[in-house]
Amino acid sequence: MKQRLGILLSGRGSNFEAIARNVLNGTLACEIGFVFSNRPEAPGLQLARELGFDVASFPSKGIDRAAFDEQVAKLLHQHRVDLICLAGYMRLLTGGFVSQFSGRILNIHPSLLPAFPGLDAQHQALVHGVKVTGCTVHFVDENLDSGPILLQSPVPVLDNDTVESLSARILREEHRIYSEAIAWVLRGNYRIEGRRVIQT
Ligand code: GAR
Repeated sequence: MKQRLGILLSGRGSNFEAIARNVLNGTLACEIGFVFSNRPEAPGLQLARELGFDVASFPSKGIDRAAFDEQVAKLLHQHRVDLICLAGYMRLLTGGFVSQFSGRILNIHPSLLPAFPGLDAQHQALVHGVKVTGCTVHFVDENLDSGPILLQSPVPVLDNDTVESLSARILREEHRIYSEAIAWVLRGNYRIEGRRVIQT
């Protein structure tokens, strides 16, 4: 039986789209079992609907974080999801959620972590003046943009870069390495030693 992905997103959903295209064309040997957004109006959720996936959404406003995550976890269990991929999901997950899916949650972040965690990583890179930034796929723990690193891709910062031009070049790499990392985790040929993810 094919392994099943659960996608959590909050916005545009271009990483979700890249993953979905690879699933639909057979490059990624798995199914997308469920797509959830904390923002009912997220364009990524609309796309998921159009592609025919099972979707759900409810806003987080006014709901206790643990209770919210518990509802999301319930849906992920109901849809028998094996691996959860955060694709621009702009919420910090509670410890209770992370421990239920320990070692089975991935995130993509638009910097070479541990540099520039949090919001607006591309802006942070420009302001800091780094010459190279990039993107990172990592396992998720209860801290922000933390957890053992699976894959990274460097992207040079050009003198005439704006946040938009830099973000666009990073995004191309995000779309490439996220599917690569998912395929690797689904194959299961890795072990984690401390913070290091080692190919076996
Ligand atoms: C992506 O750049 C992703 O790396 C970033 O949000 C964007 C979502 O775009 N995630 C984070 O910053 C997580 N800390 P998308 O909705 O088009 O995939």
